[in-house]
Amino acid sequence: MFRFCAACCLWLFGVFDAAKAEPAAERGAYLVNTIMACGNCHSPRDANGQMIKDKAFSGGLTFNTPAFVATAPNITPDRETGIGSWSDAEIKRALVEGMRPDHGRLAGVPLAAIMPANFYKALLPEDLDAIVAYLRSVKPVRSEAADPVYKGAARRDPYPDAETGFGKAMFTDPVKRGAYLVTIGHCMECHSAWSKGVSDFKTGLGKGGRVFPPREGSPEGTPGTTAANITSDRTAGIGAWTDREISRAITHGVARDGRMLKPPMAYGYYAGLKETDLADIIAYLRTVPALQ
Ligand code: HEC
Ligand code: HEC
Repeated sequence: MFRFCAACCLWLFGVFDAAKAEPAAERGAYLVNTIMACGNCHSPRDANGQMIKDKAFSGGLTFNTPAFVATAPNITPDRETGIGSWSDAEIKRALVEGMRPDHGRLAGVPLAAIMPANFYKALLPEDLDAIVAYLRSVKPVRSEAADPVYKGAARRDPYPDAETGFGKAMFTDPVKRGAYLVTIGHCMECHSAWSKGVSDFKTGLGKGGRVFPPREGSPEGTPGTTAANITSDRTAGIGAWTDREISRAITHGVARDGRMLKPPMAYGYYAGLKETDLADIIAYLRTVPALQ
């Protein structure tokens, strides 16, 4: 009888724990696999550019820039080659400050600026908890990333909305909720004016023009992709587009003229966005001052 009860209790605790933990991991899964598109950088692709499903988050793209050569490393819970031995606080610090823990590979060395910590700084504490809960739940994969090479000090361009920060109370305003999603989705990192490795968020927010080199392994002669102007300008930007047209571009990668958008625009991830989130993103984009 006692045994039965103990088992019962354990079972009940198990259910209780799962009920408590699940929503956080679910919210984390949603953020990571839609708006934040972590896998776009951190997951490996096969020779055809398709994601290798059972190796998700085990290491992905290599970025070769004048300031650094860095590969998005394994962020699965593998203890030796991933982040399984990091504490929650250490994972959060990597996300919002771009700092590695004081132990393990490259202890205490800041992460290259390509890891968008200047945007993730805006994450609400509960969203950070959710992301950590989800990362802990993904399948551990053994895979060692190549060490980075740094040619200069890590420098991240402060993103005004992330510097100001967000609070849940602001989210009764769809435009503010949209601004939060656009911040943690680091949309404006790609879509703002860019020169000599510096993003101009102050006078070039959403103006487009940044050129992305073709993906490694692309056929010879593949041109790079230029990020579009997504300000409210009616000719250069998306000011004259309908909500449906903007939504189709974000979630299905189809431009207003029917052309398919090229990488790194992460529409495959954004396809999973909830309708309300998408509507708020569009509401915010409509307020981005027009620039030609
Ligand atoms: C634009 C590409 C990009 C995106 C998007 C991105 N990362 Fe990263 N991340 C990197 C790169 C590159 C590094 C390694 C930088 C270095 O070695 O200096 C990195 C490093 C990390 C690290 C440190 C790992 C280690 O072993 O040092 C963690 C943790 C991490 N990213 C988690 C995430 C999560 C979670 C997300 C989504 C919320 C995310 N990243 C989105 C490119 C990206
Ligand atoms: C990693 C870089 C990157 C990120 C992050 C990114 N985009 Fe893009 N986006 C691009 C590029 C590059 C294009 C142009 C692709 C092409 O022309 O083939 C594009 C195209 C678009 C277009 C189509 C505009 C047009 O005139 O055709 C819209 C709308 C858009 N992005 C919105 C967004 C939003 C909203 C987000 C955040 C949720 C976002 N993008 C995040 C790189 C990015």
